[in-house]
Amino acid sequence: MSLNLNDKFVKGCFDAKTAAEYAEKAKKALATTLAGTGEGSDFLGWVTLPEDYDKEEFARIKKAAAKIKSDSKYLVVIGIGGSYLGARSAIDFLPACKKGGVKVLFAGNNLSAEYINDIIEEIGDDDFSVNVISKSGTTTEPAVAFRIFKGLLEKKYGAKASERIYATTDKARGTLKELANKEGYESFVVPDNIGGRYSVLTAVGLLPIAVAGADIDAIMKGAATARKDYTSLPFEKNDCLRYAAYRNMLLGAGKQIEVLSSFEPSLCSFAEWFKQLYGESEGKDKKGIFPASVSFTTDLHSLGQYIQDGVRFLFETVIWVKNAASGLKVPFVEDNGDGLNFLAGKDVNEINEKAHLGTVLAHVDGGVPNIIITIDKRDEENYGRLVYFFELACAVSGYTLGVNPFNQPGVEDYKKNMFALMGKKGYEDRAAILTARLK
Ligand code: PA5
Repeated sequence: MSLNLNDKFVKGCFDAKTAAEYAEKAKKALATTLAGTGEGSDFLGWVTLPEDYDKEEFARIKKAAAKIKSDSKYLVVIGIGGSYLGARSAIDFLPACKKGGVKVLFAGNNLSAEYINDIIEEIGDDDFSVNVISKSGTTTEPAVAFRIFKGLLEKKYGAKASERIYATTDKARGTLKELANKEGYESFVVPDNIGGRYSVLTAVGLLPIAVAGADIDAIMKGAATARKDYTSLPFEKNDCLRYAAYRNMLLGAGKQIEVLSSFEPSLCSFAEWFKQLYGESEGKDKKGIFPASVSFTTDLHSLGQYIQDGVRFLFETVIWVKNAASGLKVPFVEDNGDGLNFLAGKDVNEINEKAHLGTVLAHVDGGVPNIIITIDKRDEENYGRLVYFFELACAVSGYTLGVNPFNQPGVEDYKKNMFALMGKKGYEDRAAILTARLK
């Protein structure tokens, strides 16, 4: 397992004084994070989580995963934001989850009836279980989906439905916890001191990931190694701190958008997780880098044009997987009708790598600084390391920026409007104002 940050195509953007200033800021922000002296310090449980987790619950997660594997073809994971993005990022990234075990379907992350119907149709008459995940237990999207899937389970399995429902929520409070107690669902905990977007290494992520077939011990091992490295290495050798410092330096230089790119489609969901982590953590108080993502080479035929040639307010962070599995070579064709024989015999990965290197140089020449993060392969340990790398860098970057990286006050506004427009009790005044505005 390894992760390496290459700053060759970004460091030239800054003089030594600026670099030294931001190195100091990042070191200070790390110290603040580790000492728990910054804003939002009630939500630092993820910092020590890779070693300091509930071992009894971890064993129960594995047991529940084994049961689901034995009695279900599908697991419907119901949750939104931090309550599903982590699990999806791992399941889409890890080859172990592609081996034809239980298929994990994600619901409750939108309010589209058609989306829910598609899932119901896909499950058909097959056996399924549900993992409902909500820290607050009151979020509308998962609550609506849970009612529907709970109803389907009850129709199919009668009194035994509750044996197929797994609730991941607060350890003591909230409607979901109360329901779980009342109906006897097996429950898992979202710790009080870990916010949704930092919760992938708790039961929130680990149960669905284990059900999908991944080795969750190895994920924790990768995260634990990352924690050891990034909380102790000196700045010059600490890729996590260097990344956080570069982000803030780039923002200071007018680069307001970070484009996370990769050349492996299996990282698309990881990019969604990254966008939530950084968007919710830093985008507040009228500050923050806007996190975006692209998947190459696909998007080189789409957003690549803008990255190369549009407004110069972007920088790019590339995740490159060095030893992607292949064995696929371009065949030789006698008549060379498509003119492709110059590639004959070459591994497809080698072509992908040349596309990566050519793209980096083109974008740098076009005025887009590039940070390159290389991991050695797609496996559980590398996934755990990547998760911890981005989580810690996010806290350090947020504190360097001067925001509380652990709250999300902006998420409330749409919810209040939606409740008012749906006629929820207590929202009558807001409903009158909004309805008038919509006329
Ligand atoms: O990161 C966060 O805290 C949010 O994205 C939450 O995960 C999201 O809003 C879902 O909340 P809950 O788990 O309470 O349903």
